[in-house]
Amino acid sequence: MPQRTLTIIKPDAIQQRVAGEVIRQFEQAGFRIVAARLVHLTRKEAEGFYAVHRARPFFESLTTFMSSGPCMPMVLEGEEAIARLRKLMGATDPAKAEAGTIRKALATSVERNIVHGSDSPETAATEIHYFFGEMDLT
Ligand code: CMP
Repeated sequence: MPQRTLTIIKPDAIQQRVAGEVIRQFEQAGFRIVAARLVHLTRKEAEGFYAVHRARPFFESLTTFMSSGPCMPMVLEGEEAIARLRKLMGATDPAKAEAGTIRKALATSVERNIVHGSDSPETAATEIHYFFGEMDLT
C-alpha cells in the first residue's frame, strides 16, 4: 500500500540552487509529489516543527538555519515511502552518508544537510499536517 511522507528541501538547497536536482532525484526514485509549498519559516514556526529537539544543544542553531531563507515542504507518496526516502537522503551527517545519496552528494554539514524526511508513520502524519491541510492532500 502506498505511504506518504513529509520532506523539506531546506534553505541551504534553495541557496545552492539545487532544489531542482533534489526534486529530480525524488521523481527518479518513483515518488509521486502530492503537495508542495515554498515558505520562509519564522523562528517560531521552525521551533514548532523541530519541537522534539528542543533540549538538544543544536536546537538554536538549527532553528536559526531553518528560518534563514525559504524552504520547500513537500508530501511524497510511494511504496514504503518513509524508509525509501530516508535511504535516498542518506545519514544525517553527510560525512557518514553512503555514496549515491542526496546528502553525500550535496550536503555541507550535519546541520546544513539539504533535506528532511519523516522518521515514522506517526511523525509523518504530524509533519504533513504541520504544513498542509486536507484540501492540499489530493
Ligand atoms: P533533520 O533530518 O531535519 O532532523 C533534525 C535536524 O537537526 C537534522 O536533520 C539536522 O539538520 C540537525 N542536526 C541533527 N544532529 C545535529 C547535530 N549534531 N548538530 C547540528 N545539527 C544537527
